[in-house]
Amino acid sequence: MPLLETVGLTRSFGAFTAVDRVDFALPAGEVRAVIGPNGAGKTVFLHLLSGLLPPSGGRIRFDGADVTRVGIVGRVRRGITRSFQITSLFPNLTVADNVRIALRGRRDEPRVREVLDLVGLGGAAALHPPELAHGDQRHLEIALALAPRPRLLLLDEPTAGMSLGETGRTITLIRRINREAGVTIVIVEHDMRLILELAQRITVLDRGAVLAEGAPREVAADARVRAAYLGRGRHAAGL
Ligand SMILES: Nc1ncnc2c1ncn2[C@@H]1O[C@H](COP(=O)(O)OP(=O)(O)O)[C@@H](O)[C@H]1O
Ligand SMILES: [Mg+2]
Repeated sequence: MPLLETVGLTRSFGAFTAVDRVDFALPAGEVRAVIGPNGAGKTVFLHLLSGLLPPSGGRIRFDGADVTRVGIVGRVRRGITRSFQITSLFPNLTVADNVRIALRGRRDEPRVREVLDLVGLGGAAALHPPELAHGDQRHLEIALALAPRPRLLLLDEPTAGMSLGETGRTITLIRRINREAGVTIVIVEHDMRLILELAQRITVLDRGAVLAEGAPREVAADARVRAAYLGRGRHAAGL
């Protein structure tokens, strides 16, 4: 049985359908990349999986239970957490206090230290997020999502705006989270180096629907996928 499964998952905004009858099955332990042109519905899909937005139709099952109507707090409790495409850090709090907030008031100083060490910010606990390099800020966001010990981690463009070196560190970090902590991961990403190094499979969204799914090399060679990127004059994400 997959750890996560969606059946006919749909989200509309008025007459516009942002996520359109998506069937998605993710086995425990997998790293799955979700790609697609701008506006394809990737972020809305993560909002539906994390409980930030309720779906207009379809179902979401996690670990054998129907969580379609479980809100974001309930999903965190069940083991689904996420990072955001746009920064969610509190700039006026220290790095360590940002992690404490992510633990929702649970006093667990060993966990704060462990999570900061894991993302390489053990020495930066007393700093404030604006004092960190961009890549470190993004790694802190991953630390916040990781703090409550999720089984499923949802990452929305974690390498956006990163240098090559920072992206390399992110690849190493995500690999450790998956292999050492055993966390299943859905990652919305454009960077093909990261996708090819980390993802077992890719799901391609286009206009809210699943256009293709398969191993990275298969998907990169898929004519419909190439057309979805190239046909609209968009950057082909290295495909
Ligand atoms: N709250 C909202 N209200 C109306 N339209 C929205 C809302 N959120 C997203 N959309 C639309 O849904 C589509 C998919 O958006 P999004 O999931 O952010 O795309 P992307 O694949 O780039 O992450 C876009 O056309 C966007 O404008
Ligand atoms: Mg997005």
